[in-house]
Amino acid sequence: MSELAPQILRFDSLPSTNLEAAQRAIEGAAEGLCVVASEQTAGRGRLQRQWISPKGSGLYFSIVLRPRVHQSSWPLITLAAALAVHDALLETYSLKTDIKWPNDILSNNRKLCGILAETVDTTQGRALVLGIGINLTSSAFPPEVHEIATSVQLETGKVPNLEIILRNVMIALLRRYEMLQSVSGGEEILREWSVRSSYASGKRIRVANGQEVLEGTTRGLEIDGALRVETDEGEIRIVRAGDVMELRTLVV
Ligand code: BTN
Repeated sequence: MSELAPQILRFDSLPSTNLEAAQRAIEGAAEGLCVVASEQTAGRGRLQRQWISPKGSGLYFSIVLRPRVHQSSWPLITLAAALAVHDALLETYSLKTDIKWPNDILSNNRKLCGILAETVDTTQGRALVLGIGINLTSSAFPPEVHEIATSVQLETGKVPNLEIILRNVMIALLRRYEMLQSVSGGEEILREWSVRSSYASGKRIRVANGQEVLEGTTRGLEIDGALRVETDEGEIRIVRAGDVMELRTLVV
């Protein structure tokens, strides 16, 4: 198809919008189907984690994509999604956020939004379900996440408008998705992501991937969005999966 044409389906409650969108993709849903729920009872996060999704506290939605670009470039779609959320929050609330590789949106070093991309095989070929969860308010956060998570309301002092955020994220996402599928679009996404992320280059980080732990300094992105990390021994390692944590220097 030439242009993404969003069609929005709304639910009061779902186990997971990603699950619902994947099921609809298997049943033949067209690219652009967007599933939104007021709450998720089994919200899914990256690395098999749970995404806590209480009613009215967040924007939870998933979009079915049928990308034309080669599958090796699909990781760039999650970077494009992070760019879209970053830009939509800036435009809507003048809220300047950071992007932690690959696609966490942070404000004041706390997580404001998570993005989960999952592939699904359908009779029309492999599809991508792109799930986005944005914390709107923190009132329903369980105590254990207060330290690490934040919300649009906490960061802006304003009562967030779910519909406006959804609309602006969709517009920004559509633009980035079309860009990605144009000539040199991948390079443009990488460049724009790097401008907005303090994690792109020169950041001391630890990456945990299962039992494997790597420490070093970030040195930009590979063509497929993988993170280049220089170890203290000067070796460049390419990271394609894992949990990134900033290592802060202790000032005494
Ligand atoms: C992460 O771990 O950072 C990714 C979280 C993604 C959460 C969103 S909420 C909407 C969609 N449905 C899900 O079950 N997960 C994603």
